[in-house]
Order: sequence, then C-alpha cells, then structure tokens
Amino acid sequence: MFFDIKIDKKSPVYIQLKNYIKNMILRGMMASGEKLPSTREMASRLKISRNTVMCAYDFLKDDGLIYMKKGKGAFVADVKVDFQEKWNVDWSNRINNYAKKATELDIIKSEVKWEKGMISFKSIAPDDKLFDVENFKKSFLNCISREGGKILNYGYAQGYKSLIKYLLKYMENKGINTTEKDIIITNGFTEGFDLILSCLTNAGDSVICENPTHNTAIKIMKLHKLNIVGVAMDEDGINLKDLKIKLTRQKPKLSYFIPSYHNPTGIVMPPEKRTKLYNILRENNIPIVEDGFNEELRYLSDHVSPIAALSGNGNSVIYIGSFSKILFPGIRIGWILADKQLIGYIESLKRSRNIHTSFLDQAVFYDYLKEGNFEKYIKKVRRFYKDKYEKAIDFARKYIPYSKIYGEGGLHIFIEVYGIDSRKLLNRCCKRGVIFTPGDIFYTDGGGGNTFRLGFSRVSDEDIERGFKIIGEEIKKLKSV
Ligand SMILES: Cc1ncc(COP(=O)(O)O)c(C=O)c1O
Repeated sequence: MFFDIKIDKKSPVYIQLKNYIKNMILRGMMASGEKLPSTREMASRLKISRNTVMCAYDFLKDDGLIYMKKGKGAFVADVKVDFQEKWNVDWSNRINNYAKKATELDIIKSEVKWEKGMISFKSIAPDDKLFDVENFKKSFLNCISREGGKILNYGYAQGYKSLIKYLLKYMENKGINTTEKDIIITNGFTEGFDLILSCLTNAGDSVICENPTHNTAIKIMKLHKLNIVGVAMDEDGINLKDLKIKLTRQKPKLSYFIPSYHNPTGIVMPPEKRTKLYNILRENNIPIVEDGFNEELRYLSDHVSPIAALSGNGNSVIYIGSFSKILFPGIRIGWILADKQLIGYIESLKRSRNIHTSFLDQAVFYDYLKEGNFEKYIKKVRRFYKDKYEKAIDFARKYIPYSKIYGEGGLHIFIEVYGIDSRKLLNRCCKRGVIFTPGDIFYTDGGGGNTFRLGFSRVSDEDIERGFKIIGEEIKKLKSV
C-alpha cells in the first residue's frame, strides 16, 4: 500500500496524497480503526517532506476520515461505506422534446469538424493574436485591487452599474436617444435575444426577419416554437416589396434585423433603406429587434446610424449589442438597450434564470473600456480586417467561379454559385482539407443550397489563397459532372 501512488507535478503533493488516502478509505480498502503510517514513515516511503504528509493528514482529519490518538498516530475513522446495487438510467429515453430539438439544431455537433492541418473558413470569431492581453491583465489587477472581495460576491441582475453607464453613453454616441431607456448586461447576443423572445412571444407567434439570417437566431426562434417569416434580401439588404407582401399575410409579434455586416451576407443596409424599413414597421406597429453585433467593424463604407437612432425618443426599437466580434467573445458580454419598463421585465427574467452575468468579468471589462483600450483596439483591428477582407475578395474573384459575392466588410464573405450544391462542394473540399459553412443553415425556408459562407478572420493570407483555389477547382469539377 502507498507504493502505487504516482506523485506528479500537476497539483500540490499534499492534495494528491490526501485524495489517494481518501479514495482508499471511501472504497473500503482501509478499514475503520486501521493505523496509517506515521508521518515520518510515509514521508520517507514517498520521498516527500514530512510537512507535506502532516498537511495531508490534517485535511483528512478535518473531513472526518481519520482521527489522531495522542502519541500513537493517525487512524481511519468509522466511515460508513455503503455500496448499493448499481443504478443506471437511460437518459436518452428521458430527455424532453426541448432538449431533443436543441440537439437536432446544434450545428456544432452535426456539421463537418475541423481536423489538424485543415484550412477552415467556418469561423467568424476574431483573431485572438490581436487581443490586447497586456492591458486586459492590467485591468484585471486594477479591478481586484480596487474592488477586493466585493467583486467576487453576488451582484445585480441588471449588471455592473459603471459598465451600464459607460454603455448608455456609448449608445448616445451612436445617435440613440436614451431618455426613458435602460440597459441590461447579458451573456452576449445569444442570451439577450433569448430573453427578449421569452418576454415578448408565445409559441406559435410569428417573427419576421431577413432570409437568410444568423443561424443561432433561427435556432432560438425554433426553440421558442415561433413561426419564422423570412423576407428575401437584395444586394442592399431586405427586399421591402417582399416585406410588405409578407405583412399583408400575417401580423408578426416582432421583427429581427441585422442591418450592419449582416450574417451571413455581410451586407450593410444603407441609411435610406433603414428609414423605409423603420416606417413600414411603424405603420404596422411591429417592434424591431436590431442586432448591432459588429457595426464597429466598419472599415469600408461611410458611417451608418443604427435603426435605433431613427426612433428618437420613441421606444419601439430594442437594440442588442455584443462585444463578441468587436472585442473578446470568450468573455460573453453583450447588452440590451430598450424601453426602461421592458428592461425591468427582462431583468426579472434574467434573475430567475442565471441571477446575473459574471460581475468580475463585467468589472474587468469596464476597467479595460474606460482606459480607452477599446478605441485603440478597434483602430488596429479595422486595419487588419480591411486588409484581410480585400485579399479575400481578390482571391475569391481570381479563383472561385462565383455567380455573386456578397459582403462589404466584417469577418466573412458569402458566395452564391448558380447550379451547384454547396454540401456536395463541401464534401469534395473536405477531402482536400478545406472546410466552410454551407449557406443553407442560414435560410428560414430550406433555400440557399447554392450558397456558402467563407470566414477569413483567423486564416492566414497564404491559406486563404490556397483554400479558395481548392474551392474554385472543386466548383469547376462539380459543374463539369
Ligand atoms: C448576427 C450575429 N449577431 C450576434 C452575434 C454574437 O453573438 P454572441 O454575442 O452571443 O457571441 C453573432 C456571432 O456570430 C452574429 O453572427
């Protein structure tokens, strides 16, 4: 006994010894009343210090697993080890329809996976090599020394007050009137959208949106059992004629739009179209959920105000912002700016679900933002992604026999090739080590079979060229079959 213990460098030695002995006792391998080796003996057997053994024994004593007899040493306590008959449950038969649906819609599980050596155009996450880790580290230390233990305690469902104040100002700088409006911090866009639908829709309600649209938004709407009414898109965004036709057929509860660097098309809706869209929805009294997820990544077109800026002191637009593309997605911080009373309802809902978004993360983030690091970072990444975007467009034009290339910036381009099946194309490319996102997952009506999205943010220029060349070659082969 004790000779088979393998001490490694992954965790403190006293914890490894404590866990080893604990395991033996709980598995019934050391009987109640059995004497443990003395600390000196154990230390010399395992070639560790006596202090380490004493520390391990101390913890075992605190856990009630051993007791000390003065002058005699340590003994195993009377621990009840009651082994019951093995009980297994068949969980796959017990999950409900909601979980089944979520699994069915989980494209991470069903789509082709990246393997080492592959060139992947699937991701539209930012390139982490650009993250300003040093300043983030400083903010973390500032925050901990300023706030102390308080920041590790419970916070408020609405969010960290200073961050909310910062974001209100930030939204005002986008031309949005924040009178009688408020902000709640969420775990990114994904939670924000889910909370809004939970507050404002019931199963069977209709929501109108662009077709194609953000796959996660489709998933959330489907999980809420909503009727998704997709509206066709033109090269400058939503087709207003189709919108009007769809509105004569049904009365949606809500509308959802991504006016800037739309996912998946990358289209930026021009200001005149935003105004027309706003007015049509106003006439029909259908509130707007505006997803402004990466409008800061504007590096080509002129400034375009969000739809929320059009509503002045009206309260019909709910704006969802997210730092996922413009800073760090891993920190999961987004926000909803909306009517004060509505934020109150959303706050109660959020509290009931997860109490609040991590206060430590919010506080560190606030410190990082207030030091002006965000502006510096955005300036740097705009240059970087503009260069990448231009290269991606050039390579796409050179190598891919496209019918249409969409995308005015952001982190991806969207390609349509008449007469091909992008899933067949993906299979062929995958065999040659190149993967991308087939466009059909973004469509609300099963369309988009001849489209695909190419995310370039994390792919080197050389790999963009190599990958696009392979995609182009496979398209030519597919077309000639
Ligand atoms: C349209 C759109 N909105 C929002 C987001 C960001 O979501 P989250 O903040 O949950 O990471 C994404 C991410 O890809 C997106 O494509």
